[in-house]
Amino acid sequence: MKLVRTAAELRAELDPARRDGRAIGLVPTMGALHAGHLSLLDAARERCDVVVMSLFVNPTQFGPGEDIDAYPRDEARDLELAAAHGVDLVYAPDPAEVYPAGFATAVEVSGSLTRVLDGDPGRRGSEHFRGVTTVVAKLFNAVGPRIAFFGQKDAQQAIVLRRMVRDLEFPIEIEVMPTVRAADGLALSSRNAYLDDRDRRRAAALSRALGAVERAVAAGATSVAEALAAGRAELEAEGIEPEYLEARDTDGLDPVQSFNGRPVLVAVAARVGPARLIDNVVIGGADGRVPPTE
Ligand code: PAJ
Repeated sequence: MKLVRTAAELRAELDPARRDGRAIGLVPTMGALHAGHLSLLDAARERCDVVVMSLFVNPTQFGPGEDIDAYPRDEARDLELAAAHGVDLVYAPDPAEVYPAGFATAVEVSGSLTRVLDGDPGRRGSEHFRGVTTVVAKLFNAVGPRIAFFGQKDAQQAIVLRRMVRDLEFPIEIEVMPTVRAADGLALSSRNAYLDDRDRRRAAALSRALGAVERAVAAGATSVAEALAAGRAELEAEGIEPEYLEARDTDGLDPVQSFNGRPVLVAVAARVGPARLIDNVVIGGADGRVPPTE
């Protein structure tokens, strides 16, 4: 496995593969790798000839209220895990390589996709997604992957990136892999490292809440309010007040009033102790994942 720190080296390393028509797979990450990230690496290894992982804690997607310096980092461990999971090339640039002096361009998906849920101005805001789409567009240009792998855990991010790929005609397939969970249901996240034992146990209420919504729908609840109330009760039992627990259609992220068989994203965000956690399920989709943009 090779490690490069500049886009020029990255391009030079990948030029022969691109010239030979070999399929390059890209897994963008911010490091602090866990089994969720590893599932993306394994999928890329299975489907692609060359596997590239990026490791970059992207400053432009962190808001003023978010402490980027506190974000967990352990590059040596991440490199070991990447090598063990068949990564061929790691791109781990410094911020000045990605955003040199004078950097002035952004890629922005406008409209409700980036303004609701996490994009609400009172939450992370659309600026968060502008940071994500800008850095991912740069990665797409530098790597030239055939397939890029993302996690269902960040469903809104995946939906926004699919929109970007379609709108800007990136010749790249976005593959969204299922959320990997701990035994008690908690979705794995680098931010779980912020939780002490008590909050770690409380945090499992997020996935229990989503499970309660799913069960309510399976039991025949068609009203969204009724199904979400079952989810809210699970959170309340642990004293968790969600930032949101909402049901939206998976295309435009518009609110839905009923579960009628079409795929509905049920997404939750809540602060548990010092950590802001998110999770989601898709109800009524073919395989529980966000469907491809059409
Ligand atoms: P990061 O939070 O490191 O996540 C990297 C990828 O791993 C994302 O596609 C995310 O959805 C996926 N992932 C995280 N937890 C997961 C889980 N429990 N199961 C399955 N997949 C999971 O998301 C980012 O970084 C950044 O926004 C990035 C796309 C790298 C742009 O900076």
